[in-house]
Amino acid sequence: MIENRKEQHINIAENESVTSEHNYWDDIRIIHRAVSEVDYDDINTEVNFLGHKFSHPFMISSMTGGTERAKKINMNLARAAEEYNIGMGVGSMRAAIVNKNLSDTFSVINDYKIPATFANIGAPQLIKQSSDTITDKDIEYVFNLIHAKFLIVHFNFLQEMVQPEGDRNARGVINRLKEIAGSYPVIAKETGNGFSREDALELRDAGVKAIDVGGLGGTSFAAIEYYRAMQSGNKEKMHTGETFWNWGIPSPASLKYCDVGLPLIGSGGLRNGQDIAKAIMLGATMSAMARNFLKDADTSYEDLKFNINNLIRDVKITMFLTSSKNVQELKKARFITLEPLLTWLRG
Ligand SMILES: Cc1cc2nc3c(=O)[nH]c(=O)nc-3n(C[C@H](O)[C@H](O)[C@H](O)COP(=O)(O)O)c2cc1C
Repeated sequence: MIENRKEQHINIAENESVTSEHNYWDDIRIIHRAVSEVDYDDINTEVNFLGHKFSHPFMISSMTGGTERAKKINMNLARAAEEYNIGMGVGSMRAAIVNKNLSDTFSVINDYKIPATFANIGAPQLIKQSSDTITDKDIEYVFNLIHAKFLIVHFNFLQEMVQPEGDRNARGVINRLKEIAGSYPVIAKETGNGFSREDALELRDAGVKAIDVGGLGGTSFAAIEYYRAMQSGNKEKMHTGETFWNWGIPSPASLKYCDVGLPLIGSGGLRNGQDIAKAIMLGATMSAMARNFLKDADTSYEDLKFNINNLIRDVKITMFLTSSKNVQELKKARFITLEPLLTWLRG
């Protein structure tokens, strides 16, 4: 069941139009500096995220695992994470909990020297549902399976609402998170709908080490589940997917709302190096991208490399044209904000 779902997610994300209607990174325009004081070849893109050094201010966000195709994708992503010295997340590891035979579709990344790997479990599965609950032992298993440095707990309640088999209970999730955050370095992550300020305060009080905002503007899981519902002829879920396609807090606004003293990962809808720079300028310590890497990682390592080389060059050109010789200086680069994002930021 999970295997089948993972395969469908990959197919739909690669081939259908699954993004939200508006990309809010476009509402930010960076102010050009004609008089730069930087030598392009001296630009340093390194970031330090919770004690881990990465060569570039972006990581590979959680996506997949659980099938042979996912294993190949994870392998290519891991190879890139090693080559470019960036962080890497894997998709929800429930598949490996339910069926240990699928563990190698995740642990394949252990063959590569990645500066930090991020294990992944779903918040809905931490509490009682009609499906199995993830236990302490399960968490220990998946964390060790990829020698993880961080445990991402993803919040995807909208997706659960659109999935025919979705979990419907959220009561008690913060208490359970608090327990887990006492034993693991937890990162709370949204999957395309963003966190509000109230959420961020609760997450901080629960003891998470960082927040990955995963806001609105890129991949919409309501859209992905809409296509799954269409394939199975489930008209009710198609309706829900369509209605909530653009639901959520824009990624740049979520970054501002989540400014509660924790390191932030800016994600949701990033497409290029300018978007990466914008996330940093809005307060993120690091950024992350998911779907942008998917098709290339599924096609060939060369395609993935081409993509990442472009990202790095874009980031460096943006830094050059804002007179920023390192990421600290980039944080101070100036920008203007257009509507509709402006209203979100004022609100
Ligand atoms: C095919 C696919 C599978 C995903 N699976 C997971 C997952 O298992 N766990 C998770 O935390 N996020 C998952 N995500 C969400 C991404 O990590 C990310 O938060 C979201 O796609 C928004 O980023 P993007 O606009 O760069 O794609 C998945 C995304 C895609 C495209």
